[in-house]
Amino acid sequence: VKAAVFASGTGSNFEAIIEEKDLACEIALLVCDQPAATVIQKANRYHVPTFVFQPKQFTNKLSFETEIVKKLKKHNITWIFLAGYMRLIGPTLLNAYEGKIINIHPSLLPEFPGLDAIGQAYRAKVKKTGVTIHYVDEGMDTGPIIAQEEVPIFPEDSLEQLENRIHEVEHRLYPQVIQSLIK
Ligand code: GRF
Repeated sequence: VKAAVFASGTGSNFEAIIEEKDLACEIALLVCDQPAATVIQKANRYHVPTFVFQPKQFTNKLSFETEIVKKLKKHNITWIFLAGYMRLIGPTLLNAYEGKIINIHPSLLPEFPGLDAIGQAYRAKVKKTGVTIHYVDEGMDTGPIIAQEEVPIFPEDSLEQLENRIHEVEHRLYPQVIQSLIK
């Protein structure tokens, strides 16, 4: 089974997935919409092919997603794992990969969707937040939930401590959920 990771940032989840030795699928492509993103260097280091593009060089989402689908087909990709890809997925990709696109989000959805979910939870002073893995639909962090894990927020936590605690859970949970979906 071949999968693509879509990421726009640091790529710590990308790396956690790649590092999972017994994963039942091969990460055969990185799709990235930010030419300066650190995740690209990570992909190069692991010899994962990349498709890097700049959305503003295309007329619209239809045109860049059409290009993405071409690359995915060329690499025989059957699953898509979003890991910090900061864009809504449009109908072109959703139709081509129906039921095969999943996302990780750092909150207990439906709480704190969208940007800076960890900061949102921290500032809301809730006692717990967490990590959600869900199927992707046209909405922002709205598709059917596959797995969730709670992460406590302690009164003395700095934002950075909370971020680290959440990322640790992400890096364990995402490969685990991928494994269970794929086999
Ligand atoms: C993660 O917190 C993920 O849940 C969110 O974006 C972040 C990506 O981080 N969707 P990284 O690039 O994997 O380090």
